[in-house]
Amino acid sequence: MPQETPAPKAIAIVTGAAGDIGRAIARRLAEGHDVVVLADIDGGAAERAARDLGDEARFVAVACDVTDARSVAAMAEAASSRGLVRTLVNNAGAARAVSLHDTTPEIWRMDNALNLEAAFLCFRAVEEMLKRSRGSVVNIASVNGMAVFGHPAYSAAKAGLLHLTRLIAVEYGKFGIRANAVAPGTVRTQAWKARAAANPQVFDEAKRWYPLERIVDPEDVANAVHFLAGPQASAISGVCLPVDCGLTAGQAEIARTFSQSSHY
Ligand SMILES: NC(=O)c1ccc[n+]([C@@H]2O[C@H](COP(=O)([O-])OP(=O)(O)OC[C@H]3O[C@@H](n4cnc5c(N)ncnc54)[C@H](O)[C@@H]3O)[C@@H](O)[C@H]2O)c1
Repeated sequence: MPQETPAPKAIAIVTGAAGDIGRAIARRLAEGHDVVVLADIDGGAAERAARDLGDEARFVAVACDVTDARSVAAMAEAASSRGLVRTLVNNAGAARAVSLHDTTPEIWRMDNALNLEAAFLCFRAVEEMLKRSRGSVVNIASVNGMAVFGHPAYSAAKAGLLHLTRLIAVEYGKFGIRANAVAPGTVRTQAWKARAAANPQVFDEAKRWYPLERIVDPEDVANAVHFLAGPQASAISGVCLPVDCGLTAGQAEIARTFSQSSHY
């Protein structure tokens, strides 16, 4: 009797997985994947996050600088040694300067390298595996990629990331590869540490602009990623799903002024 070859393990890669959003995504993607690779430039933090989530057979930490092609290739190799990549979540990201006036050419390049080019590098490193698995990419963009809310270089890179999402969807659709983006609004994470230290009220002040009168939780982002990466989204490709408590739908304060209606 010929032996049937067992199906390769389904791998999800989450970059920036030591951060609050990345960790929540990694936890959620364990549903539907055999192994989750937590890739982060801070290898120690990735290891702590992985052990916090479960054993090494399910959650694998890999130290990886996603802006460095060689480091990304090594991370893809580590993932391929454990199975076949079915989902790539480009989540690593950071914003460095708050205004265009404060943006140096170096900051512009760094923000674009981390928030845009890295997603391209990671996708190219795993594209052959995604073809074999007919897998998908989920890019963690931001509402900053959709309208101006400060952080110019980061915003331009996130807008580029939304376009990269569409580029992958169109060119790689014939291989069964889907690409989608999630655009979170304000999420209370380490990324806000300096701003929260300077103004402890920053999250309460932010709520004012959100129609749902709250900010986003890391789990809200993780739920959207899980949906887009899963079979229920099998006909969805090239879209951006805002997870923003209604922020990009419009502004009640502006509607109140323009309509002079107290219902807003
Ligand atoms: N927090 C928010 O309000 C918010 C809003 C919209 C979008 N986002 C996006 O969500 C994603 C996660 O953000 P977060 O708030 O969890 O940030 P975070 O700072 O908590 O985590 C980011 C993680 O990325 C890692 N990282 C940084 N540079 C890296 C590199 N070169 N290679 C690999 N890993 C690297 C960091 O070590 C960190 O663990 C980012 O893409 C961010 O732009 C966040």
